Amino acid sequence: MNFVFLGPPGAGKGTLAAKVAVDYDIPHISTGDIFRAAIKAQSPLGLKVKAIIDSGALVSDDLTIELVKDRLSQPDAQKGFILDGFPRTIPQAEALETFSDIDAVVNFDIADEAVVERLSGRRVCKACGHNFHVKFMAPKQDGVCDACGGELYTRDDDKIEAITHRLEVYRKQTAPLIDFYREKGKIVDIDARPETTAILQEFEGKFPRS
Ligand code: AP5
Repeated sequence: MNFVFLGPPGAGKGTLAAKVAVDYDIPHISTGDIFRAAIKAQSPLGLKVKAIIDSGALVSDDLTIELVKDRLSQPDAQKGFILDGFPRTIPQAEALETFSDIDAVVNFDIADEAVVERLSGRRVCKACGHNFHVKFMAPKQDGVCDACGGELYTRDDDKIEAITHRLEVYRKQTAPLIDFYREKGKIVDIDARPETTAILQEFEGKFPRS
């Protein structure tokens, strides 16, 4: 299956995608993760996008579309994939139709207040990128990654000004994709409020593993 995970920042797309990728044996392709890896490596792409991402704005459509087109052409994506964070604008969705067929767009439904609580409490491992939350998914030892022992940090775009901007950008540029895909009969709504295991169960009920 070729999935798109759609929803506001902090809805839990990345957390669920990491589990679904293992359970369904398909790659989790997060444009945000690709950009953050480029920033960490200080590559030309990373240097170009750092200030944009830190502020909560979107990277240009052209650059993002080329990156995803290339990633979806890799061998591991031929058996299915989860696109997390792409498309994020109507031009990106239109471009995606020219190089891939999407089976389902999973729409994560959650209120802004919950988003703010989730993002302001998120902590990410500097070494392996694993996500935690100070309240909902706390690491065993404060500030230390359970998976690899790396140091946990707060993303620059998880500061409150950037969160507010990201929610505005989501409403203006990304939320119109819900109607875009609903008209094509591809939207599957998921209640993103419960804990992750309950969301995973709902997902598995809607998309039984073959
Ligand atoms: P990206 O990394 O895609 O950020 P995002 O969409 O804002 O999504 P997040 O990673 O913030 O949230 P999420 O829904 O994955 O939530 P998570 O699972 O981590 O993009 C970053 C930036 O890159 C963009 O702002 C933009 O600049 C650029 N970019 C990326 N794609 C682009 C594109 N296509 N076009 C242009 N620019 C692009 O969960 C959040 C927190 O909540 C965690 O702490 C987690 O532990 C906790 N949590 C998760 N689920 C639950 C739950 N069920 N209950 C309680 N807590 C939970």
